[in-house]
Amino acid sequence: MKEMHHDHARADVDAFDFWENRYRTGRGDDGRMWSGRVNATVAAQVTGLTPGSALELGCGEGADALWLAGHGWKVTAVDLSTAALEVAALHATREGLADRVTWQRADLTTWHPTQEYDLVTSAFLHSPFEFPREAILRRAVAAVAPGGRLLVVGHAASPPGSGHEHDPDAPPLPTPAEVLASLDLGEDWIVESNTTVQRDAARGGHDVTLLDAVVRVRRPMH
Ligand SMILES: C[S@@+](CC[C@H](N)C(=O)[O-])C[C@H]1O[C@@H](n2cnc3c(N)ncnc32)[C@H](O)[C@@H]1O
Repeated sequence: MKEMHHDHARADVDAFDFWENRYRTGRGDDGRMWSGRVNATVAAQVTGLTPGSALELGCGEGADALWLAGHGWKVTAVDLSTAALEVAALHATREGLADRVTWQRADLTTWHPTQEYDLVTSAFLHSPFEFPREAILRRAVAAVAPGGRLLVVGHAASPPGSGHEHDPDAPPLPTPAEVLASLDLGEDWIVESNTTVQRDAARGGHDVTLLDAVVRVRRPMH
């Protein structure tokens, strides 16, 4: 994934306009803002799981959703940005995966899943706006089918070059333990990952090491 430019969002710009503008103006020569490749941490976490139904929250241009679809999952992928979902749908068609992914434009601050999934996933669901991430993730917990999993991958440290790494006013990034605690899980849930993982990436022509917070939990069968 390419990194976002973290100029602070202005209070008078709403979240939809912000993300829409970012996706429309941030496109590279390939028509995408992000790399189009699955996030390595997401792929590592999902590899080996038995495919089923999956819900992705904040799918952006759909690289992770398309990887899931290509690995046998039947995916519903939600994002706020029309521009991002247009790119996602285009690539789904190009890759012959259009019938395996449903792209849904919705504002997660108010959206409630209406069914349960074998895998609910969110990657880098960060926003420079006031964003009820914890409430969204608790709704995600409720959407996990018995025996299914929730995977939450996020930044554990501000990415080098993001402009936030030395910014004392930058919003704090939750540790994996804080993410886990915020999910408010029942005692019978199984914690399969609660860790930080290093990931090598290229940023602006430099090799950097990113730190991902990874939480993966499994709902019991009964
Ligand atoms: C940092 S990007 C991550 C995108 C993608 N998951 C990835 O890893 O490349 C955050 C995503 O969350 C989406 N988003 C932000 N606020 C949202 C909201 N209220 N409802 C739905 N999606 C939202 C943005 O449009 C953006 O695609």
